[in-house]
Amino acid sequence: MTPITYELIKTCKQTGARLGKVHTPHGSFDTPMFMPVGTLATVKTMSPEELEDINAKIILSNTYHLWLRPGEDIIREAGGLHKFMNWDGAILTDSGGFQVFSLSDMRKIKEEGVHFRNHLNGEKLFLSPEKAMQIQNALGSDIMMAFDECPPYPAAYDYMKASVERTSRWAERCLEAHARKDEQGLFGIVQGGEYEDLRKQSARDLTSMDFPGYAIGGLSVGEPKEIMNRVLEFTTPLLPDNKPRYLMGVGSPDSLIDGAMRGVDMFDCVLPTRIARNGTCMTSNGRLVVRNAKYAHDFSPIDENCDCHVCKNYTRSYIRHLIKCNETFGFRLTTYHNLYFLLKLMEQVRAAIAEDRLGDFKETFFEQYGFNQP
Ligand code: GUN
Ligand code: ZN
Repeated sequence: MTPITYELIKTCKQTGARLGKVHTPHGSFDTPMFMPVGTLATVKTMSPEELEDINAKIILSNTYHLWLRPGEDIIREAGGLHKFMNWDGAILTDSGGFQVFSLSDMRKIKEEGVHFRNHLNGEKLFLSPEKAMQIQNALGSDIMMAFDECPPYPAAYDYMKASVERTSRWAERCLEAHARKDEQGLFGIVQGGEYEDLRKQSARDLTSMDFPGYAIGGLSVGEPKEIMNRVLEFTTPLLPDNKPRYLMGVGSPDSLIDGAMRGVDMFDCVLPTRIARNGTCMTSNGRLVVRNAKYAHDFSPIDENCDCHVCKNYTRSYIRHLIKCNETFGFRLTTYHNLYFLLKLMEQVRAAIAEDRLGDFKETFFEQYGFNQP
């Protein structure tokens, strides 16, 4: 029996967005939900206590990176990833499928798996559905992801069809190799690029295998936003109502709202944490590049409408100074604020769904935030 279950609470009458709850062995979380990314068993600059402060309930980590460093044996020996990093909330691990394709060159895709080179030292490596399951079983994440291929955009139809079929065969092998089915849930990943019939084929193959949740992969890989929205529109209805849907690698405020409106429940992205370390903040008035000279004498908070610990206690001028000097405390402050901002946004999205007014919320939010801002 899978330990991951989903409760659909209600659907927004104005938009069709879903309000729900996902239950895991490490607690439950309300959906739609954003998952901060903790690639190397840390959400960069954030302590687990701070993650708890901002109400993060589930974080994402990466099979590929933890396999290379420190290696899954050390994490198993520590008692699993939760104990290793002192995080008692839920953890989802990506399978390595995407990282192999985005980080390494010289890869060879074979039926048995992918041969490629370590992005750190060039050493030859091989990852397969079985290996990705063994590593994730050792990590002990609450939600594991199937080993898939995420083709680039654009990809030719014939290539995409062969890839979707291989990803389905790999998904079968993942189910077969998954050794801790009572403790960890395994999600399938629907691929198919922009092609409607291939998304249908992929969704049909995967839903017949009865995973406890489904991800939509192969999006946010350089395609225009309209294509992503169209693909979501025809893909989410192919997925069962009683399972969570996870849109992989998406985290800009507009895409989170657009995704929720099309029936997506879970999201993850490095965007808020990555831009934070570059001195860029998400605010209710759009992006603010706090390292800019114009904030040198600005003693107001990053976002006057934000009630996070950072905005209550620190000024733009101070944070700009820290970041200009490469002081780590500056990166901590911007990261904390950005994650707080996105988690708060999801809370507002859930409240709007509860009251059937997500369409209105979107309009007011973007009047202030500005459209097409990442
Ligand atoms: N992260 C973002 N997109 C993808 C995808 O298509 N597959 C996997 N495994 N991870 C992703
Ligand atoms: Zn703030």
